[in-house]
Amino acid sequence: MKKKILSLMLTAVLAMGLAVGCGPADNGQPADGTATTTDGGSDASTPAASTGKRVAVAMPTQSSERWINDGNNMKEKLEALGYEVDLQYAEDDVQAQVSQIENMIASGADCLVIAAVDSSALVNVEQQAKEADIPIIAYDRLLMDTDAVSYYATFDNKGVGTAIGKYIEEAKDLANTDETYTIEFFMGSPDDNNAVMLYNGLMEVLQPYLDNGTLVCKSGRTSFEDTCILRWSQETAQQNCENYLTGFYADEKLDICATAFDGFAYGCKAALEGAGYTVGKDWPLITGQDAELMATKNIIAGSQTMSIYKDTRLLADKCVTMVQAVLEGAEPEINDEEQYDNGKLVVPSYLCTPVAVDKDNYKEIIVDGGYYTEEQLAE
Ligand code: BGC
Repeated sequence: MKKKILSLMLTAVLAMGLAVGCGPADNGQPADGTATTTDGGSDASTPAASTGKRVAVAMPTQSSERWINDGNNMKEKLEALGYEVDLQYAEDDVQAQVSQIENMIASGADCLVIAAVDSSALVNVEQQAKEADIPIIAYDRLLMDTDAVSYYATFDNKGVGTAIGKYIEEAKDLANTDETYTIEFFMGSPDDNNAVMLYNGLMEVLQPYLDNGTLVCKSGRTSFEDTCILRWSQETAQQNCENYLTGFYADEKLDICATAFDGFAYGCKAALEGAGYTVGKDWPLITGQDAELMATKNIIAGSQTMSIYKDTRLLADKCVTMVQAVLEGAEPEINDEEQYDNGKLVVPSYLCTPVAVDKDNYKEIIVDGGYYTEEQLAE
């Protein structure tokens, strides 16, 4: 084992010179400089007695606000419990994340919390952690094809898709209407298990309406393979939307952009503006996920219709109980032991509940829930 650690340390020293963005992240504020209320109850003002243990948190990217909040919440809550925290962002670079995790192992992490860039690309480094007796918790995204993962904290990912589907179904009264509506799909990254689960939940609701002609997808792109967008790229979503609008919607308007992520909703918004659509006139129903600050502002302004609110404070709370479980022998709360088969084991999971938000309920859910203040939303 000692030899193993030594060789890992060497790899880490080498990797440090190569890794992209592997320095400690600037985890102060969201990219747009606005603060989000992220304290979920832990008292960060009272420094806890040190446990002498170090928890390393590997996050995928700072390019979208939610992961910045996730990282901040995790750091704050773990520090409040007396853990030293090593928080790193990989900026959607798979190799950078592998290097970061190697560094974490070599520098003596007692537990790894990982939100993967590519859920299947970490198998070797996960095996290294296992051999060094370092437990791993999967954060939000399931870690695939490994038996080195102990627990998984996430949101009900299929439930996210179902909630988006039901929102569209109700908003357009699909069950009763005589109208037909045009729709295009913008789904998540094929290397993220969450994306396919969301798609399955969405299609469980919408497929019957595609089958009976109430919904018409003029591009014909309705399968996950045809609509998934690698690394959740906003630019690709915009490009796809522009292509759909010029290729299929010259004579008839696009009524619904079913998107799986607020970043995609921004991409569609830009494409629609470019094609001359106007909010309040012929603007489509646009869905999203994460209830980012910008998305919530767009919902208020009418340029996005809804988003899925995922309270990252709650997710961090649940994940922290899993860290305590593996480090202190406590019992974590688990509410799903069936759905999350990663190819090697069914990972014991806690699923938080996603909530659909729109202009009618954002105040109650988001503002009263302390996620954003009215002032932040008015800026
Ligand atoms: C998360 C979503 C997020 C997406 C893009 C997914 O794994 O579950 O909340 O919108 O990644 O970052």
